[in-house]
Amino acid sequence: MQFSTGHVGRHSLRAIIERPELELIGLHAASPTKVGRDAAELCGLAEPTGVVATDDLTALVGLKADCVVYTSQAETRPDVALQELTAFLTAGTNVVGTSLVWLVYPPHADAWLRDPLERACVEGNSTMYINGIDPGFSGDLLPLAALSLVERADHVLVQEICDYGTYDDAEFTGVSFGFGTPPEQVPTLFLPGVLRSIWGGPVQLLADELGIPLDEIRERVERWTATEPIDCTMMHVDPGRVAAVRFAVEGIVDGRTVITMEHVNRLTQAAAPEWPFPPEGRSGVHRVVVAGRPGVEINTHVGLHGTDHNEAGVIATAMKAVNAIPVVCAAPAGLVSLRDLPVSQVRGLMR
Ligand SMILES: NC(=O)c1ccc[n+]([C@@H]2O[C@H](COP(=O)([O-])OP(=O)(O)OC[C@H]3O[C@@H](n4cnc5c(N)ncnc54)[C@H](OP(=O)(O)O)[C@@H]3O)[C@@H](O)[C@H]2O)c1
Repeated sequence: MQFSTGHVGRHSLRAIIERPELELIGLHAASPTKVGRDAAELCGLAEPTGVVATDDLTALVGLKADCVVYTSQAETRPDVALQELTAFLTAGTNVVGTSLVWLVYPPHADAWLRDPLERACVEGNSTMYINGIDPGFSGDLLPLAALSLVERADHVLVQEICDYGTYDDAEFTGVSFGFGTPPEQVPTLFLPGVLRSIWGGPVQLLADELGIPLDEIRERVERWTATEPIDCTMMHVDPGRVAAVRFAVEGIVDGRTVITMEHVNRLTQAAAPEWPFPPEGRSGVHRVVVAGRPGVEINTHVGLHGTDHNEAGVIATAMKAVNAIPVVCAAPAGLVSLRDLPVSQVRGLMR
């Protein structure tokens, strides 16, 4: 079952329809313009599926699907998302999703979010897993792959360096990152504790995997304002308004930064020339650099052969959820992270 057909959801819906081992039995749409339309139409496929979008949550829960892929916008309306998710979990339907990004590492999440979901998992003997490209892949699978190659690690740096100019998401990403706003206006993402609540999870996950007790998780933020007008897919930015952000969440031991998860996001490659850029003139990278012996750097570029890097990031995010369906359905009940699942989630991909 697929829940929502937004930026991420239309890709997961398409994957569910096209994968021979998966069967779409229901589709949720909140938008009145989508309700009643065939699932195929909502993700750009020609052949109708016979499954039409509905906003009837009770009917969808009653279908008792093995799993729901939940990609509805949840950070701006967590109360509604919690109601929807607990309804599925209590009924015994497993959840894989990209929403509620605080849950990439459930032990780090606040009790108001974790407790009702955990109770629902116990009641329904169901499992829930949240992931994406960042937070998600870049902070769990990617650094774990790099760390598997080293004798000794002194510092782990995870970075998303990405030009968001082509990302058509002014409403959520644009607003929450504060693009286009005066620098004195603090957007949601940079209110104290918000970065830690999102990227602190992956930092803590890595620390727990490494077996190091962190003394503290710190956050830092810098913003860069446009020197001339910028026009990009995301928005128009006037001079003096924010056009690039650099922020990080850091794990500290004995006063030393041991894990850094950093973002550098611009709306044009001309912005913030003094900040790091992706290698080889690319527009985006998800990378890890492990300092130590022998030292490892892995640069991940999603989107080859003309696929835009932002669109590719959205597809990759959707696939982190869809690809996890079999292992999540087979996992013990509860809120899980990559630590609880088989690392390999690729069965059925080669077609
Ligand atoms: N970890 C990562 O790497 C990563 C990357 C990208 C996104 N995400 C997360 O994934 C989730 C989906 O992202 P997205 O870019 O696909 O979001 P989106 O396109 O902005 O919204 C997804 C869907 O949420 C529903 N929705 C939005 N506002 C609503 C409202 N006020 N009332 C009811 N429904 C509403 C709509 O469903 P209908 O289409 O059914 O109307 C919409 O299509 C978000 O929570 C985002 O934070 C994570």
